[in-house]
Amino acid sequence: MFSEIPIDLKAIEPEDIDKEVLRVAIMAEFDAINAYEQMASMTDDQDLKTILLDIAREEKIHVAMFQTVLMETDTEFLKVMAEYSLAKEC
Ligand SMILES: [Fe+2]
Repeated sequence: MFSEIPIDLKAIEPEDIDKEVLRVAIMAEFDAINAYEQMASMTDDQDLKTILLDIAREEKIHVAMFQTVLMETDTEFLKVMAEYSLAKEC
């Protein structure tokens, strides 16, 4: 789990910092999803399992939020996502 940013933001060009922050934020959210889903699978307490899976779902919403901002910030990422989506439809 992340307690520190796993990159040196000082080594990043100023125009790329927001993209890097968004990518790290997405990784942290995926890490949180994995942790909550793994904890949910470890417990037999149905109330606790429900809470953990509900929180995991909230983290998935956070991924979507950060990914939306990343596509606005990183035009190449937006282009790749659009190309992949079109290719998958064929
Ligand atoms: Fe989150």
